[in-house]
Amino acid sequence: KRLVILISGSGSNLQAFIEKQQQGSLGGTIVSVISNNPEAYGLTRAREAGIKAVSLDHKTHASRESFDKELAEEIKKDQPDLIILAGFMRILTPEFVQTFRGKLLNIHPSLLPKYPGLHTHKKALENNDEFHGTSVHFVTEELDGGPLIAQSQMRLIVGSESNEENELNEQQVMQRIQKLEHRLYPEVASWYLNNRLTMEKDGVYFDHKKL
Ligand code: GRF
Repeated sequence: KRLVILISGSGSNLQAFIEKQQQGSLGGTIVSVISNNPEAYGLTRAREAGIKAVSLDHKTHASRESFDKELAEEIKKDQPDLIILAGFMRILTPEFVQTFRGKLLNIHPSLLPKYPGLHTHKKALENNDEFHGTSVHFVTEELDGGPLIAQSQMRLIVGSESNEENELNEQQVMQRIQKLEHRLYPEVASWYLNNRLTMEKDGVYFDHKKL
């Protein structure tokens, strides 16, 4: 099975995929990594792992539609079975999403449907949420709104009273959530690659006999 991974930044999730592939438990091969940001460190990670690294700068396009068209063409060259959005910070057009319907996965750092969009750690802390986490979902036209597949969560509030020594700051929460992501996301992708899960009519179908 063939994977294409889309990134915009550091690519720590990409790294987790590379490691799972190297361990032989991903169920597929990462054929290319594409970044809309030419400076993304994830491109270096890809090259170091011997994976084709492509930079497609969205700033060279006048519209979202024209960027997405070029992106779709680049992806089609690689004939992927699965496309992984790993910190890809671009909103995709409905045309793009329809082209690859049922083959697109995203990870979002909140317990969806809570906190779609940006600044999720800040929001969870400000709201004194007891739990916070990360979600893997199929991508639909709705931002961070496609059917949920799996989540990892952690406790933010320890005990009943807020205690400064125990309080996490935004940076620490982000680091802990990313650790959860690095375990969860490649695992969910391996379910997909092993035909254990599909998207049907905007819902998720699990083959529990295989899980
Ligand atoms: C992840 O936390 C992901 O949930 C969010 O962006 C971050 C990407 O980090 N959308 P990295 O580029 O994989 O290190």
